[in-house]
Amino acid sequence: VKLAHPGRKVVLARSGPGEGEWDGGRLAQVVTNLVNNAHNQGEPIPPKLLPHLFQPMTRGTGKGSTGRSIGLGLYIVCGIVRAHGGSIAVHSTASQGTAFTVSLPRPVRAQGWEPRSSTG
Ligand SMILES: Nc1ncnc2c1ncn2[C@@H]1O[C@H](COP(=O)(O)OP(=O)(O)OP(=O)(O)O)[C@@H](O)[C@H]1O
Ligand SMILES: [Mg+2]
Repeated sequence: VKLAHPGRKVVLARSGPGEGEWDGGRLAQVVTNLVNNAHNQGEPIPPKLLPHLFQPMTRGTGKGSTGRSIGLGLYIVCGIVRAHGGSIAVHSTASQGTAFTVSLPRPVRAQGWEPRSSTG
C-alpha cells in the first residue's frame, strides 16, 4: 500500500496477540482493499449506500470513486471475511469519518474452508 501511495502515511497500531488460523494472502487482500478505499478526505459514505455497500457493483459518486472503480472491492473483502467465519461492519459519519471493523475468530469455524498449506 505504501508503494502504491508514496505520499500517504500508513500507520499500523497493534496490541495483544494478532494471530489466528487464517489465510494470510487473502487477509492481505482485505487490508489492501480497505486501505486503498480510504479516500475522499473524510467525506462520509451516503447513508443510502450503506445497506448495499458489500454487494457487487456498489460504488459511490464521490471523487474517489471515479476512474477505474468498479465497486467490487468491498464485495470481495466481505466474501473473504465470511469465509473465515468472521464479520465486517462499517461506521461512516461526517463528524467521525469512516471506519471499517473486521472481526475474525481465531480458529476456523466456517464450513468447507481450510487454510491453504504453506506449499500452496
Ligand atoms: N474508506 C472509505 N471512505 C469513503 N468512501 C468509501 C470508503 N470505502 C468505500 N467507500 C465507498 O464505497 C464504494 C464501494 O467500495 P468498493 O471498494 O466496493 O468499490 P470501489 O472502490 O468503488 O471499486 P473497486 O474496489 O472495485 O476498485 C466506493 O465507491 C466508495 O464510494
Ligand atoms: Mg475499492
